[in-house]
Amino acid sequence: MATTITIKNLSKHFGKVAAVNTVSLDIEAGAFLTLLGPSGCGKTTLLRCVAGLEDPDGGEIYIGDKLVFSYDKGISLPSGNRELGLVFQNYALWPHMKVEKNITFALEIQKMPKEEMQKRVKESLAEMKMEGYEDRYPREMSGGQQQRIALARMLAYRPKVFLMDEPLSNLDARLRMDMRSELKRLHHVSGATTIYVTHDQVEALTMSSRIAVMREGVIQQLDTPDRVYHYPANLFVADFIGNPKVNLLESVISEKNCVDLGNFKLSMDTHNATGKVVVGVRPEDIAISESPVAGATEFRAYSVLPSGADTTIVARQQDLEITVKVMGISHIKMDDKIWLKFDPNTINLYDQESGNLIAC
Ligand SMILES: Nc1ncnc2c1ncn2[C@@H]1O[C@H](COP(=O)(O)OP(=O)(O)O)[C@@H](O)[C@H]1O
Ligand SMILES: [Mg+2]
Repeated sequence: MATTITIKNLSKHFGKVAAVNTVSLDIEAGAFLTLLGPSGCGKTTLLRCVAGLEDPDGGEIYIGDKLVFSYDKGISLPSGNRELGLVFQNYALWPHMKVEKNITFALEIQKMPKEEMQKRVKESLAEMKMEGYEDRYPREMSGGQQQRIALARMLAYRPKVFLMDEPLSNLDARLRMDMRSELKRLHHVSGATTIYVTHDQVEALTMSSRIAVMREGVIQQLDTPDRVYHYPANLFVADFIGNPKVNLLESVISEKNCVDLGNFKLSMDTHNATGKVVVGVRPEDIAISESPVAGATEFRAYSVLPSGADTTIVARQQDLEITVKVMGISHIKMDDKIWLKFDPNTINLYDQESGNLIAC
């Protein structure tokens, strides 16, 4: 059975550094929650606090209804008593053990009856589509198969919670792609509540049910991948998520429903926003044409970067630079005149001073 995880006002300092700064998080049973942010933002520290490997200096942690940490009450259950099932750090297989032994080794330590162990081996191999590999040594399988066995081993524990800290960061690009889908599968079949740490926004977007974007120990936004991508709560999140990066253009609301970018104006619903703002618009949300169209503004193609499935075009108009992404191979050549058209529904407005989303 999956469990909820509730974090209340949790803090952890290292000297003067607030690695985790009064973080509160409600994680639903069965969620795949990703902690996402740049290196040093506190992801690992927060995960280790949940795991019981780090002693926070404020706040509370519940796993299900069980209070496993409370600074004020002086409660801190050791890692083994938190019913986490498993802390996922290393999924290398033991090279001198066959697949079956790799899976049963830790279960034997728990003194699990032999029949139950056999059942778990069979079930977990079936769940990872690796039936019939019981008698292989790790060296007798491909890298991808070995990874699937390692995941089957995790499944065999039947944990309530998976805690994973950048488990794919040491893999090459191809294997990393494959393992994303295997890990998503693992979560799907186990249904275990998962906290997953990564600095890779694509990994977070593709795998999570929810993403908590962190910066300097503070959660900036807790939302679905869709909302984090389309409605970033502030300029930090907007800039961190998306490749190529979102266009962030300084502008002024000159009158209601009119955003002045200096060279041209955009009409859109500005709600109650006034003054200096930043226009946030994703490269794929801008329409590009090779001839003038109504409502479009003339630019010049400064650089054209085809990558097979899509083409990134860097457009310039005096000192204004805008990145546009189109599907497929574009016919546009460098220095061509091009016309860009913005869709008001895809534009987010941020307050220049606070960086917060004010209209979308
Ligand atoms: N054991 C430690 N001793 C001192 N500082 C630490 C320790 N662990 C982490 N930090 C600091 O806490 C901050 C958050 O680190 P960490 O949680 O590892 O970030 P992330 O996993 O997001 O890269 C960083 O400034 C880091 O230098
Ligand atoms: Mg880390």
